[in-house]
Amino acid sequence: MDRYEERWARTEAFRRDRFGMFIHWGLYAIPARGEWVRSHEEISLEEYQQYFDEFDPYKYDPKAWARLAREAGMKYAVMTTKHHDGFCLFDSAYTDYKATNTKAGRDLVREYVEAFRAEGLKVGFYYSLLDWHHPDYPHYGDQNHPMRNNPAYQNEGRNFDNYVTYMHNQVRELLTNYGKIDIIWFDFSYTDEYNDMRGEKWQATKLVNMVRELQPGIIIDNRLDLHDAGQGADEPVYTGDFKSPEQIIPAEGLKDGLGRDVPWEACMTLNDHWGYCAADKNYKSAKTVIRMLAECVSKGGNLLLNVGPNAKGEIPRESVEILKRVGRWMDDNGESIYGCGKADLPKPEWGRYTRRDDTYYAHVYDTATSVLQFDVGREVGKVRLVSDASELVKIQPWNLEHTNKKLVHDVFVDLKTVNLPDEIDTVIKLEVK
Ligand code: GLC
Repeated sequence: MDRYEERWARTEAFRRDRFGMFIHWGLYAIPARGEWVRSHEEISLEEYQQYFDEFDPYKYDPKAWARLAREAGMKYAVMTTKHHDGFCLFDSAYTDYKATNTKAGRDLVREYVEAFRAEGLKVGFYYSLLDWHHPDYPHYGDQNHPMRNNPAYQNEGRNFDNYVTYMHNQVRELLTNYGKIDIIWFDFSYTDEYNDMRGEKWQATKLVNMVRELQPGIIIDNRLDLHDAGQGADEPVYTGDFKSPEQIIPAEGLKDGLGRDVPWEACMTLNDHWGYCAADKNYKSAKTVIRMLAECVSKGGNLLLNVGPNAKGEIPRESVEILKRVGRWMDDNGESIYGCGKADLPKPEWGRYTRRDDTYYAHVYDTATSVLQFDVGREVGKVRLVSDASELVKIQPWNLEHTNKKLVHDVFVDLKTVNLPDEIDTVIKLEVK
């Protein structure tokens, strides 16, 4: 098997699952202006310390999070074990800057892992390559560091190799102390005037070899290098198993450097922030989320949908409500998502197609008449409404010549009403013979 084939084989279960929960949680939930607050507002470590001293998520209930994720139809989760601010939600032996030393007093990652696993979800770790707490990480002049503009934080005497060792050690802890881990999500690489923070700067070959040795079944995202570096003929081992477009759904799915389809996962926020942001009420509707999910699947991708729990440890009520609504739809229509992918048909005017082998799923968003017309390029047998498995009768309009094309494979279905049974996404299943 070459790397390309390996990537498809490794991601098989991941691609079947299609829908996961992203969780951004850390000290930044207290200032509640997003996970980049320390950088955006150039907050010093001393000033930021107040949040460490205060952190007390007494309502943290990962079992409730896991239940919510499962009920929403999600099959896996990825939680921030350490974000760019360097704060660790897990009990690392290599730092004191961790949840165990806050009022929380315990390893919050362990509880997450146990709760999600108990609900039957696969478990993933987000781990930030950047670290604004570690003294050996570049400060002054770095493009992101909170002290980038502060000349008092020059970089003489900082030993980046120490940081890389620290980072590798923590990854080893995460992949040793918590049983089987399904996904590791490294974030992120960048280049600026001073530094080339990608690939071997992170000692990525060594890192990935260690990851694979510790967790042979794990899958790795593509952010150990810049997004499009290297997928193709001579790719390095750290290219990643799937691509990770952020806040976009690519127009036609994603390809590698040689023009071949590759596994991908779009990550999306529910409002406009990853980490908790108290003022941001710009939530997407359940309808938007469901159609985003159907769109990803119709293009051969996954959706990783974010929640940003607050400082008490609660997923915002708005997010809970949206996910519950999504869950009702998934309960009725999940078979058009799980194990499905591209239909290899042009995008139809009424919505989208997903497909699993010989079954096509028409995701119908709108229709001007009660009669719907489908053409999957093959002869269709049974037609069913997915939500209740009821029969939809194929009809034969007597005056077919009014449509301009040859209607060899066209199927006409009369819904009897222009009001679709599900205003968000009515799924119709077409089985080809
Ligand atoms: C970005 C951001 C980060 C977020 C991530 C999610 O790279 O730095 O805050 O965690 O995207 O994809």
